[in-house]
Amino acid sequence: MEEYAVELRNVWYSPDRGNHTLKNIDLKIKRGARTALIGPSGSGKTTLFKIITRLLKPCSGSVCIKGSIGELEKHKVGYIPQQLGLVRSRTALENVLIGAHSRIGFTGTLLGVFPKKEVELALKYLNMVGIAPKADMKVYTLSGGERQRVAIARALMQEPEIILADEFVSNLDIVTAREIMDMMIKIKGKDTTLIIATHDINLARDYSETTVIMKNGARIGEISSGDLDQDKVKDVFT
Ligand SMILES: Nc1ncnc2c1ncn2[C@@H]1O[C@H](COP(=O)(O)OP(=O)(O)OP(=O)(O)O)[C@@H](O)[C@H]1O
Ligand SMILES: [Mg+2]
Repeated sequence: MEEYAVELRNVWYSPDRGNHTLKNIDLKIKRGARTALIGPSGSGKTTLFKIITRLLKPCSGSVCIKGSIGELEKHKVGYIPQQLGLVRSRTALENVLIGAHSRIGFTGTLLGVFPKKEVELALKYLNMVGIAPKADMKVYTLSGGERQRVAIARALMQEPEIILADEFVSNLDIVTAREIMDMMIKIKGKDTTLIIATHDINLARDYSETTVIMKNGARIGEISSGDLDQDKVKDVFT
């Protein structure tokens, strides 16, 4: 079995063939590991996630997901985007079912035709994240924390081996943010790899084993998350 869930080698990316927003990124993340990605605004965290999910293609370098460089493993990456990417006019349940699109097919997802077993699975995940009673509520009626839970359930619906969570609790109060992080760690299987992008050093220290530090599009270091403190990273954020 391949050791690394994610392996990037010499990845460069430029949105406009001009300035590089990712510069020579080397990254190896072991299966089942919990990794935080920290760095100031604009340092390239979201871009890196989009490269891992294959929403963006690097200008050069290689991206391996579970040892494969092809698109095959794409659906094994569950992505919780910074802005969550939920369909506000659809219900929580319908949003979670979107996570099953690789099994149902695009047309089925578009037409809202879902096999019974997928609906049952979606309800199971909504139950796990604690909002099954709101399954039939439209997303625009839900609170920020409830939306965050829907986004987790949608990612789980992909039955992912790798979960990328992009600052997805940053708009919540700290108590709710931690409650949601605790829940995600509890749900995460032993073999599920979790990568969180965050500005919050305390969150990185408490919810990851290793922290990768980004600045100006480059990976400038890696540290054991237990050793993280404001002093160690003050240069990164100034
Ligand atoms: N489509 C685009 N065209 C031009 N520049 C872009 C595009 N997308 C991102 N960038 C630039 O790439 C850089 C990295 O952006 P990115 O969103 O990856 O940063 P980030 O670390 O996620 O920041 P934040 O913490 O604010 O979310 C920024 O300077 C941004 O302006
Ligand atoms: Mg970002």
